[in-house]
Amino acid sequence: MGDPLQRRILVTGALGQIGIELLEALSEKFGYENIIASDIRSFDHLEINVQKYVELDVLDIEKLERVIVENEINEIYHLAAILSANGEKNPQLCWKINVNGLLNVLELAKKYKFRVFSPSSIAVFGPDAGKLALQKSPLNPSTLYGITKVTGELMAEYYHTIHGVDIRGIRYPGLISWKVLPGGGTTDYAVNIFHKAVNHEEYDCFVNEDTRLPMMYIDDAIRATLELMDAPREKLSISGGYNLPSLSFTAKELYDEIKKFIPSFKCNFIPDRRQEFADSWPDETEGKYSTEEWGYELEYDLGSLCEKMINSLMKRY
Ligand SMILES: NC(=O)c1ccc[n+]([C@@H]2O[C@H](COP(=O)([O-])OP(=O)(O)OC[C@H]3O[C@@H](n4cnc5c(N)ncnc54)[C@H](O)[C@@H]3O)[C@@H](O)[C@H]2O)c1
Repeated sequence: MGDPLQRRILVTGALGQIGIELLEALSEKFGYENIIASDIRSFDHLEINVQKYVELDVLDIEKLERVIVENEINEIYHLAAILSANGEKNPQLCWKINVNGLLNVLELAKKYKFRVFSPSSIAVFGPDAGKLALQKSPLNPSTLYGITKVTGELMAEYYHTIHGVDIRGIRYPGLISWKVLPGGGTTDYAVNIFHKAVNHEEYDCFVNEDTRLPMMYIDDAIRATLELMDAPREKLSISGGYNLPSLSFTAKELYDEIKKFIPSFKCNFIPDRRQEFADSWPDETEGKYSTEEWGYELEYDLGSLCEKMINSLMKRY
């Protein structure tokens, strides 16, 4: 389809936390005219610069196919999903969108030979993964969301091995960004806390202060995505989901770091159901394969991440 050197990119779930940032990075790299943004929601007042937007439910395979063919798409970043906390509230919807939506993309990738990026998550790990999750640690998640992500990784490996689909994925840790609010995941507290701090409001954090999870600033995650998609296929041994090296800090360490910038900020720790999900996940991920196979390295640490978040949000509010 089309000139293989010319990327023609479709992003699904493009109005979400990652999509908004990825759209900008892809548009700058490959040209605004080559990026088609899509989401199930209508695109109204969001401050994003896109030349083409399509309202698209990934469960509607006929429309998905039409959009791919009409726009000569040769690469999809498939971000449409239901995240962990919302997934536990609505498991059937979570399964349908995360698994059947991916199946639609993969069937069309098999037919039209386009490349796919499909994110996985640290939620693939369960309590038996240990505190430092390795690429090959056991995948026994205790959330439905995690089960859909393990299934997605297995589907990716299958479509690559059996049908030759070039699909790539990353097990993103909790992503911290400021442009849009996150979409119902367990690590949302690490974003929401900044909005409250910058607005000089108190924050009721829904995990306890000792909760330690793998985290990353969004720029490191977007760069990882672009670097993985640029890597020569023959160097890659994994299709389902690469671990990345991650930051690892507790909710209290994050609070203390924010207080260095905004000393009057007050945070209360009032755990809810999401504490259980957080407790089932590792503290940190090891990214040996991403570093060895496509040279990935983290740039942001906790201090630089907090500085960037606070400065960016202060300019906005
Ligand atoms: N944000 C994180 O911290 C994080 C961490 C690990 C993995 N991930 C993964 O990255 C991907 C993107 O996550 P995100 O944080 O941007 O999520 P998000 O919830 O912010 O965005 C998901 C988008 O998908 C859209 N969507 C939902 N159902 C749809 C459907 N049927 N058809 C089309 N669009 C639909 C939503 O409207 C939303 O805009 C997901 O696969 C998620 O599991 C995210």
